Amino acid sequence: MVLGHESAGIIVEIGTAVTSLKAGDRVAMEPGVPCRYCRYCIEGKYNLCLNMKFAATPPYNGTLTKYYVLPEDFCHKLPENVSLEEGAVVEPLSVAVHACRKAGIKPSTSVVVFGAGPVGLLCAAVAKAFGASKIINVDIQQSRLDFALKYAATNTFLPSKDGNAIENAKAIIEQNDLGDGADYIIEASGAPSSVFTGIHVARPNATYVQVGCGNDVVEFPIIQMGCMELNVKGCFRYGPGDYNLAIGLLRDQKVSVKELITQMVSFKDAQKAFNDVKNGKGIKTIIKGVEVQ
Ligand SMILES: *[C@@H]1O[C@H](CO)[C@@H](O)[C@H](O)[C@H]1NC(C)=O
Ligand SMILES: *[C@@H]1O[C@H](CO)[C@@H](O)[C@H](O)[C@H]1NC(C)=O
Ligand SMILES: *[C@@H]1O[C@H](CO)[C@@H](O)[C@H](O)[C@H]1NC(C)=O
Ligand SMILES: [Zn+2]
Repeated sequence: MVLGHESAGIIVEIGTAVTSLKAGDRVAMEPGVPCRYCRYCIEGKYNLCLNMKFAATPPYNGTLTKYYVLPEDFCHKLPENVSLEEGAVVEPLSVAVHACRKAGIKPSTSVVVFGAGPVGLLCAAVAKAFGASKIINVDIQQSRLDFALKYAATNTFLPSKDGNAIENAKAIIEQNDLGDGADYIIEASGAPSSVFTGIHVARPNATYVQVGCGNDVVEFPIIQMGCMELNVKGCFRYGPGDYNLAIGLLRDQKVSVKELITQMVSFKDAQKAFNDVKNGKGIKTIIKGVEVQ
């Protein structure tokens, strides 16, 4: 199978009915094309389409190829001052935009983001762009937290290994002066202990968004969720307007993704890129397009 779903490219050819694009345009490629006809598409939740064709998700091939065919409206034109490399990162940035929109982050609020991998970092950056004033990134790797603090987080938290989930939640609240608890929780690690801590770090009536995918089944503090009337939400990929907003955030310099691009390799070295990622080296590695023969 051809891999790849975080991509940007240059239009080489357009179909006869295409009006908004021309050869030479640089675009971010939205990798999931929905059916447009099912109930979820009609109701504006195309990320939940029953007939989704998503790049590099079997049986569909991915974007890591010289030419890729994509409908006009899933090619998002990049502003002049946004590079193709940044354009490729629009995909995970859109995941973060979707999460922060689902959370409904309002100005001068507190957000605890679990996980300081690419998506957790981007959620922190988008939360900041949405006006959150306290953004606490939680991760078990100090090096990731060091990066998070330089990037978008206002504070970080390293969970103590011997402390239990509830004690960690208490410590997050105390160290960050969160009062009744955090306004928003974005779980972008998928770790069972983060889910547990996340529910306990929430204030009454807070919103918790599950972005991370880890264990299928976790131990869940359901009484706490019920008694605090938490708004617990699922979150999957991105939907209407998310790519546009992500590109707008880059254009207007509300979010920067350049810091996350730690390496660029040529297509023929793609295997090295995959190995580096597997070994936890860097944050985002860009694989350049197939060289013209
Ligand atoms: C995916 O790409 C491979 C290699 O080019 C090809 O053999 C296969 O038929 C493609 N699959 C689909 C569903 O297009
Ligand atoms: C409770 O949460 C809902 C949904 O996020 C929000 O509309 C409402 O304003 C909140 N009320 C309080 C008192 O926090
Ligand atoms: C890109 O251009 C827009 C105007 O089109 C400007 O507002 C923005 O600050 C520029 N961004 C960068 C990254 O230079
Ligand atoms: Zn559909």
